[in-house]
Amino acid sequence: MIDRYAVIGNPVAHSKSPQIHTLFAHESGQEMAYGRLLAPLDGFNETVERFRAEGGKGLNVTVPFKEEAYRLATSHSQRARAAEAVNTLRFDAGAVYGDNTDGEGLVRDIRDNLGVAIAGRRVLLLGAGGAARGVIGPLLAQHPKGLTVANRTVERARMLERHFGANVRASDYEALSGSQFDIVVNATSASLAGALPPLPGGVYAAGSLAYDMMYGAGLTPFLERARAEGAGLTADGLGMLVEQAAESFFVWRGIRPRTATALASLRAA
Ligand code: ATR
Repeated sequence: MIDRYAVIGNPVAHSKSPQIHTLFAHESGQEMAYGRLLAPLDGFNETVERFRAEGGKGLNVTVPFKEEAYRLATSHSQRARAAEAVNTLRFDAGAVYGDNTDGEGLVRDIRDNLGVAIAGRRVLLLGAGGAARGVIGPLLAQHPKGLTVANRTVERARMLERHFGANVRASDYEALSGSQFDIVVNATSASLAGALPPLPGGVYAAGSLAYDMMYGAGLTPFLERARAEGAGLTADGLGMLVEQAAESFFVWRGIRPRTATALASLRAA
């Protein structure tokens, strides 16, 4: 029987993961099937267990189930523990392994695809929800010069500062005025409501990178604003999506697929 994987979420119809993993499987010569699994909001565990009982080998987990997936897993990678969220489940005999590949996906896209070093740079992360939390550990592992986490509700940023230690500095948006950064990452959900994080002017250093973890057709509003504010380079989250998928693929199959073809084909679509 062919090994089965899927992305589980609610909603899940829009997910590009089936397309990405099918390309990876094809490119790396792996025989596997990858589908979509819509779980009821109050039925995550049951949906996972059914998939597993039917022989499923692993799942990608998306909104809003990453914290529930963390609790469901019986063992965790260190990065999943730091994030307290899981986007990759692997079903082993008698155990469920939980990992979080989001942060590694972001780092690989910035560093390898965009060619922007994180080491020694001033990094600003906007937002303090699950999306932000999931990428802090891997960003810190690159040894930036500093990592500032700015959030509308500053107490949530302070919680992350306490959790990740002295290398993270919490801030509200106003207090960023007068500071400059080399890399600014938008991990807020503001774009979903057509809003912008209230970033003061002047934070983009010359040649800086503005990165939006969201993606869509054309520039996101955040990236449009960043360009007007003087960011030298802009990138949306499509590369992160493909890179986190490649890392999940590796967790399941022990093979790291090349990502360039999948990224180019998603861009073309
Ligand atoms: P996710 O898991 O996607 O991170 P979340 O935990 O609901 O979702 O977090 C959403 C993040 O986007 C939060 O940092 C939120 O700021 P608050 O903690 O102050 O709510 C941020 N956010 C959402 N809308 C925003 C807006 N219009 N301006 C600035 N930040 C916003």
